[in-house]
Amino acid sequence: MASRKGSQQSRVGGDKYSVLLPTYNERENLPLIVWLLVKYFGESGYDYEIIVIDDGSPDGTLEVAEQLQKIYGEDKIVSNVLLILHSGTAYIHGIKHARGNYVFIMDADLSHHVSGSPVYLDNTREGGYDLVSGTRYRGDGGVYGWDLRRKLISRGANYVTQVLLRPGASDLTGSFRLYKKEVLESLVERCVSKGYVFQMEMIVRARQLNYTIGEVPISFVDRVYGESKLGGNEIVSFLKGLLTLFATT
Ligand code: GDD
Ligand code: MN
Repeated sequence: MASRKGSQQSRVGGDKYSVLLPTYNERENLPLIVWLLVKYFGESGYDYEIIVIDDGSPDGTLEVAEQLQKIYGEDKIVSNVLLILHSGTAYIHGIKHARGNYVFIMDADLSHHVSGSPVYLDNTREGGYDLVSGTRYRGDGGVYGWDLRRKLISRGANYVTQVLLRPGASDLTGSFRLYKKEVLESLVERCVSKGYVFQMEMIVRARQLNYTIGEVPISFVDRVYGESKLGGNEIVSFLKGLLTLFATT
C-alpha cells in the first residue's frame, strides 16, 4: 500500500483535480455547474480542469459545453470526448482525458453541492484516502426532493448490496466521489458493469483491493431542471450486475 501511495504524497500545490461531468440533456444545468466549479476551485487555489462527457444529447448540451470552453478556456474545460453513444461508459472515456492526479466524479444536474468539493480535498489530504465517497446514508447526509418510490429504490439497492457483498461503505450507489487517478484507473480496468450499477461495483472492488475509503456525508437534492435518466431498465441491470458480482467475487 505504501509504495502505491508514495508518488501521491506531494504538496497541495502540485496537485491537479480533474472533474468528470457526464451529461445527457443538461443544457440548462451545465452553465451553472461549470460556473460554480470555476468559482469554488478558483477561490480554493487548486489547479483543476472540467471534463464534460456528453452522450450526443439531443438538447444541444455539447454546443453549450463548447461555448463554455470559449468563455473559460480550453485548458479549463475539456469537451467533445469521443463516446460510444449510450454505452453507459462515460466515466471510462472521460478518465482517458484527465490530466489531474485526482479525479472528481459528480452529477451535472446540481444534485451534488459544488461547495462540498473542498471538503473532499481536505479529507483526502488529511486522511490520505485512495477514494473519498459522498454518502447520503451517514451522519448529516440525506436526500431531498425524491418521492417515496425513488427513496425506496435507492435504499433497497444499498441494502441488498450490503447484505450480499458486505462492502462496508454506507452509500454504494452514490456518484459524488474523489479518486486518486491511478486508483480510479486500476478500478476501471477491473470493472465490468455499465450504467447505474457501475458506482456500486467500483466501491465493492475498491474494498476488495484494500484501497482506503473515506466518507463524507452529503445532501443530495433532486434536480430542478431536466429529468432523471433512471428507469425500469436500470433497476433490472442493477440487480443483474449485483448478482453477477455476488457470483463472481
Ligand atoms: N454521458 C452520459 N450518458 N451522461 C448521463 C447519461 C448517459 O447516458 N445518463 C445520465 N447522465 C448524467 C446526467 O446528465 C447527470 O449529470 C448524471 O449523469 C446523473 O444522471 P441522473 O439521471 O440525474 O441520475 P439520478 O439523479 O436519477 O441518480 C442519481 O442518484 C443515483 C443513486 O441513487 C445519480 O447520482 C446516480 O449517478 C446515482 O447512481
Ligand atoms: Mn440527477
